[in-house]
Amino acid sequence: MVPEEGMGVRIGLLGYGTVGRILLQRLLSDDLEPCQVVAVAGRPDESSRLELGALGIAYTSHPPDLLEHDLDLVVEAASQSAVRDWAELLLQQGISLVVLSAGALADEAFRSRVEVAAAAGRSYVYLPPGAVGGVDALKAAAMGKLRSVRLTTTKLAGALGAGGDITDPQTVFQGSAGEAARVLPQNMNVAAILGMAGIGAEHTEVQVVVDPGIAVNMHRVEAEGDFGRLEVVVRNRPCPANPRTSYLAVLSAVALLKGLQQRIRVGI
Ligand SMILES: NC(=O)c1ccc[n+]([C@@H]2O[C@H](COP(=O)([O-])OP(=O)(O)OC[C@H]3O[C@@H](n4cnc5c(N)ncnc54)[C@H](O)[C@@H]3O)[C@@H](O)[C@H]2O)c1
Repeated sequence: MVPEEGMGVRIGLLGYGTVGRILLQRLLSDDLEPCQVVAVAGRPDESSRLELGALGIAYTSHPPDLLEHDLDLVVEAASQSAVRDWAELLLQQGISLVVLSAGALADEAFRSRVEVAAAAGRSYVYLPPGAVGGVDALKAAAMGKLRSVRLTTTKLAGALGAGGDITDPQTVFQGSAGEAARVLPQNMNVAAILGMAGIGAEHTEVQVVVDPGIAVNMHRVEAEGDFGRLEVVVRNRPCPANPRTSYLAVLSAVALLKGLQQRIRVGI
């Protein structure tokens, strides 16, 4: 999607929590002109409605209302269920979607429906890499023979409901990315993205470790194929308002929106 010369990009947000609020601040700042947030859909919340109203931004608790605002793009930063409930409707109406809750697209049947809706509306779904590194390299590697992709996510003790009393690192999940997205939906957006970028969710191995000895959440990606070997580790600082959300995920959405306006685009 390339905005027409001199035209702004009319943006809606679906979800007004940690990511949505930081994104809005960035979008209101000059460095993301000509992106303009015109409407936000979130849970019923009078204070958000008043706060956004003062900025000239409409607030609704009924996401289909977003269709009334002649939007080019909606950034979803809500939940996987929001993606399941509203993605097809928005895409069919020609509104492209940036999806943060990527785990929703790990379900192949749903992903196919989303593709059909986007084709019907001539719209696009963009998946920023979020809290993980190496997605570009993985996509390139998958153009040759890619034999294995493995994600090891290490979380702080107390994450995922694991007892805060553990003293040694413990593996709390081991299986495919597809299974991880189903069993640990809140935490496995990253696994779903790697699955889509590489060899598919069912062939992508995932291990989740809870470690009382680490200070930040960590994602290690390893892949092996004809290209050679890939190893990328990201030690993520959390957003203060939501320790489950890595700051890099927000920055990745900002970078994606910025990239849409650039004539020279770095990365694939
Ligand atoms: N891809 C990644 O690497 C990555 C990283 C961080 C967060 N995420 C995902 O992004 C999403 C947002 O994260 P966050 O930290 O901002 O979460 P958050 O809980 O702080 O905020 C989400 C907001 O969306 C609202 N919401 C949820 N479902 C909704 C619906 N159906 N309609 C309207 N509003 C709805 C919630 O009430 C909340 O206000 C989550 O699904 C999270 O898993 C992805």
